[in-house]
Amino acid sequence: MTAIVRQATGSHTNDLDAYWLPFTPNRAFKRAPRLIAGAKGMHYLTPDGRKVLDGLAGLWCSNAGHNRDPIVAAISRQAAELDYSPAFHFAHPKAFELASRVAALAPGDLNRVFFCNSGSEAIDTALKIALAYHHVRGEGTRTRLIGRERGYHGVGFGGISVGGIVNNRKFFGTLLAGVDHLPATYSREQQAFTKGEPEWGAHLADELERIVALHGASTIAAVIVEPMAGSTGVLPAPKGYLERLRAICDRHGIVLIFDEVITGFGRLGHAFAAERYGVVPDLLCFAKGVTCGAVPMGGVIAREGLYDAFMQGPEHAIELFHGYTYSAHPLACAAGLAALDLYRDENLFERAKRLESKFADAAMTLKGLPNVLDIRAVGVAAGIDLAPRAGAPGERGYEAMDRAFYDEDLVIRITGDTLAIAPPLIVSEGEIGEIFEKVARVIRAVA
Ligand SMILES: Cc1ncc(COP(=O)(O)O)c(C=O)c1O
Repeated sequence: MTAIVRQATGSHTNDLDAYWLPFTPNRAFKRAPRLIAGAKGMHYLTPDGRKVLDGLAGLWCSNAGHNRDPIVAAISRQAAELDYSPAFHFAHPKAFELASRVAALAPGDLNRVFFCNSGSEAIDTALKIALAYHHVRGEGTRTRLIGRERGYHGVGFGGISVGGIVNNRKFFGTLLAGVDHLPATYSREQQAFTKGEPEWGAHLADELERIVALHGASTIAAVIVEPMAGSTGVLPAPKGYLERLRAICDRHGIVLIFDEVITGFGRLGHAFAAERYGVVPDLLCFAKGVTCGAVPMGGVIAREGLYDAFMQGPEHAIELFHGYTYSAHPLACAAGLAALDLYRDENLFERAKRLESKFADAAMTLKGLPNVLDIRAVGVAAGIDLAPRAGAPGERGYEAMDRAFYDEDLVIRITGDTLAIAPPLIVSEGEIGEIFEKVARVIRAVA
């Protein structure tokens, strides 16, 4: 194994043994590592000099592509100017600037921004803010959290508790107490090969009424959903679903949280999916695209009234006992400001909207290929369900991802036997065609 790595990296000090890769089959990877050594724009470079097309915007984060000059320059300037200042009791100017810029992109009165360092931390932060919000208002009995089956909200204990993907939950004990789940919004019988939001499924939001009837509204703090469930295979909310959730939350005083870690910063043709769907949540989680993936960062945008509820008591006293050493890290803020400039100057959110139908058409060309059970496309994202091989779930998907990288010079994402495609929003129409031609060859190869 070591020999392979030495060959692949050209280094005699490099060894694959020590690194325990996240969400990766380590033994298979270390037998045949997929190494990436450089990147520019739409492409990666491998150590052996291959140019690989990025069909996943990093990991749903590099929305303006890779190694963009203004972001690189902003990070290096910032590193020389202010590497770090304490996040508690002190702050640096770019933290305020980025908070204002992010708030300006969010709809309605979502205008108070709490920073953290990842999507998972954003989810924990939002769940804790929701609980504390009820507490400071004298409704401390509201402690239940409601997630959704097939939801992905990162890997913290909060996120896996409200999340709905079995393998992310079943190994990790009893999780948070007092959590319930809405049903997933996907039905292949009703929705197969839909472009955009499916017509069927808005009624599934009414399951929240059933949960309220079961537990009592006075025990429920928050509901959290992804407007488009990404990690589970690109499941956009059915038409009308989010409006119905909003109405039920309003009726019962429940905090509505949107997890926009994937949908934020243009993936669905808007700064946030909340805008696309015309629904303003009480808390909105973001991460990934805020810095174009260049420096880790996440955050939660709160409605003004929710923030105001905390602003009471003596002025020298902390209002929310929560935060991270690296909240609003100077490098992340610099990268974030440069990324938001790029998104604005290159009209990338509008570009995503313009590309949406071309992208969906290109994705649907895969219909009819061997083992393709369903294709979903929304914004610049597509999910393709392949039939699992008998007795070996996930094997076909894994082989597809591996062949895409080695045989087609393309990076795609897999969840089990579902492929996900979500390139940077700078993708050209020609590259969209190229991506799906490559995926078509891969699907035939793994038949
Ligand atoms: C919807 C959603 N929420 C949360 C997360 C977790 O983000 P992170 O991996 O940065 O912790 C992800 C990551 O893919 C995500 O897709």
